[in-house]
Amino acid sequence: MKVIQIVFIIKLYLFHKCHTLIAICIVPGEPRDVKVEAINSTSIEVSWTPPIETERHGIIRGYQIHVQEREGAVIPSGFLPYTVHNGDATKYTVVDLHPDTEYQVQVSAITRKGDGARSAPETVRMPGGVPNKPALIVNGTVDHLGKLSVYVEWKAPTQPYGELMGYRLQYGPRGENLATITLEGQSMLHKTLTDLQRGIEYEIRVSARNHNSYGEEAVKYYMTPEAPPSGPPINITYRYQTPGTIVFTWDEPVPNDRNGIIINYDVEFNKNVVLNNDYKKEKNTSEGRIVFDGLEENMDYTFKVRAWTSKGPGPYSELLNLHTEPDLVRAPMNLRGLATSESSIEIWWELVPSRGKVIGYQVFYTMAPGPDLDLWNQMSVPVTHSAELQNLERHAEYGISVAARTASGLGRLSTLLAVRVKPVDVPMYLRAHHVTTHSANLTWGPPIQLNPLHFKITYNAIKEFVDAQGVTQVQKIPTVTTIINNRIYSHIIEDLRPFTTYTVNVTAVPQTQDYRPPAKITVTTQMAAPQPMVKPDFYGVKGDHEIAMILPQASEEYGPIAFYYLVVVPKDKAFKNPDQYLTDDLIANKAGSKEALAEGPYIAAKFLHRNIPYSFALGNGQIYEGFKNRPLQKKKK
Ligand SMILES: *[C@@H]1O[C@H](CO)[C@@H](O)[C@H](O)[C@H]1NC(C)=O
Ligand SMILES: *[C@@H]1O[C@H](CO)[C@@H](O)[C@H](O)[C@H]1NC(C)=O
Ligand SMILES: *[C@@H]1O[C@H](CO)[C@@H](O)[C@H](O)[C@H]1NC(C)=O
Ligand SMILES: *[C@@H]1O[C@H](CO)[C@@H](O)[C@H](O)[C@H]1NC(C)=O
Ligand SMILES: *[C@@H]1O[C@H](CO)[C@@H](O)[C@H](O)[C@H]1NC(C)=O
Ligand SMILES: *[C@@H]1O[C@H](CO)[C@@H](O)[C@H](O)[C@H]1NC(C)=O
Repeated sequence: MKVIQIVFIIKLYLFHKCHTLIAICIVPGEPRDVKVEAINSTSIEVSWTPPIETERHGIIRGYQIHVQEREGAVIPSGFLPYTVHNGDATKYTVVDLHPDTEYQVQVSAITRKGDGARSAPETVRMPGGVPNKPALIVNGTVDHLGKLSVYVEWKAPTQPYGELMGYRLQYGPRGENLATITLEGQSMLHKTLTDLQRGIEYEIRVSARNHNSYGEEAVKYYMTPEAPPSGPPINITYRYQTPGTIVFTWDEPVPNDRNGIIINYDVEFNKNVVLNNDYKKEKNTSEGRIVFDGLEENMDYTFKVRAWTSKGPGPYSELLNLHTEPDLVRAPMNLRGLATSESSIEIWWELVPSRGKVIGYQVFYTMAPGPDLDLWNQMSVPVTHSAELQNLERHAEYGISVAARTASGLGRLSTLLAVRVKPVDVPMYLRAHHVTTHSANLTWGPPIQLNPLHFKITYNAIKEFVDAQGVTQVQKIPTVTTIINNRIYSHIIEDLRPFTTYTVNVTAVPQTQDYRPPAKITVTTQMAAPQPMVKPDFYGVKGDHEIAMILPQASEEYGPIAFYYLVVVPKDKAFKNPDQYLTDDLIANKAGSKEALAEGPYIAAKFLHRNIPYSFALGNGQIYEGFKNRPLQKKKK
């Protein structure tokens, strides 16, 4: 009988609370550091730290938050706890509480065994309540004069938490700073706004105020209806691309005049003549930019532009009057062009008679010719009658135009020339093989289309090098011309200079012998050994072991100098000309090596590149790039 009673008592404790006097304790201990904070008048945030490790008695599956309203000392029962199904949680937000009310909060941990010990009660007093959202309606109307008024209307909040004192209305373009209007008194339930811009999304907020504060805000977005612009585009500028091509640019009307999204501009550009106005040009564009070409010289033109919204056009800008230059430099005539390779075109034209005014030419080219020359490729060339366009798209057709350039700007544009990047009238696949110091073997294929009278090879070079006096020489190697039979596709060019870059042209000359552009390559011949140098000069003996000398320089005509050796041959060992000793033998006879004892011919110094000194003390004992300038022996030549 006694035994049964003890079991009963222990069971009772297992299902209830842990008792400090009983060693077996299986539900978790109380969470620690419980804090409760009111977020607003109806919500609190509860936070805690889990029970200490040794008191958990299992894995924590979650928590329960016990919230009870306190009215004086009375704690009404029957409040269900909030359950957090997350053992890692350390906070929870409780909503929908009553403003102006005191609550008591406790937290307990949950394991598989159930709800654990509750933390000590924390009390929190909710701030006074504020009104909930008013119901908001926004309705815009446009009167017969096109004036926009926006009627904003709302209903009193359903939960005022006291007496309503008034309202606050805020409005402005969405996302920007809002203007605020305060309205005193609970009967203020609407407002008409007449200062809104058209075609803009507005943000409108209304909240009611009670004795505590402003309450929740009702928010509405309202897109004001568009209207035609009420002002013209601003900031109109123009610039001549050539004397016959003008580009106008402008900005949108000022924000207050836009009245919506500007979707289009229409432009009127007119020749300002009373009779025979055949020029009048009207154009639409969605950009703030337009180009007109074909302008006449010494002529008056007018320009105006207006902006459109979806509702129609606004007013035109003020008329802009302009006058084109008189006496323009005329366009280059007879512009011709041919592909010279799969990526290049040569163009040629007749020089513009210039009276010294023309300082060069401007070449415009593009795959998509349009009036706006800013979108074309451009190339500036000096006063010449031809130019080569490079890096072009294979097989594409290019539109090309040329204008003379003067100090004050461009002359008129030539007529447009269209050329496809497909070589048909030039020798094909021009190459140079077996390039030596003095020759190269040129090969090519016949043109695809043209049946040539013959081929013409021309080549020349401009050679620059530092000569034996250290002076930079520029040599023009004159053009050599050779005519080759029209059935032969290779030729060896000879008598070339070493280390020289030649430009080589091969032209397929048509039966008419008219000008045709050549196929072109450059050929650089190989370097050759330097030409013999002049002998050094001696100007005296210094002490017992040194001879003072002046060293010559080598010419770089046949290639840049890598280094110099200064070779010394004692007269009694001189069985041959110094030139005839092998470099390897001389190097082997370096100071310090076994062979050096023999005191045969040796290298006294090495000088890199062009760094050979003008005067030199032979025998000064110093090291030059690893070679010792050995002291000379007395009484020896
Ligand atoms: C109070 O805060 C809660 C939680 O952030 C929120 O859901 C509720 O709307 C807020 N109430 C008011 C009146 O601002
Ligand atoms: C908007 O205002 C107009 C004119 O006052 C009225 O006829 C219309 O019924 C209103 N629309 C709404 C949705 O309230
Ligand atoms: C006119 O355009 C220029 C260049 O785009 C700009 O810097 C300037 O602010 C514009 N002026 C006005 C009044 O918009
Ligand atoms: C420009 O656009 C307007 C409106 O879309 C249209 O009425 C007008 O005819 C257009 N003008 C031209 C030249 O295309
Ligand atoms: C030049 O080179 C081409 C191609 O390598 C070869 O067929 C031709 O025989 C050469 N010409 C001479 C003259 O060596
Ligand atoms: C090769 O042809 C170009 C034109 O394509 C010309 O400017 C150049 O002077 C010519 N060179 C020779 C060596 O004929």
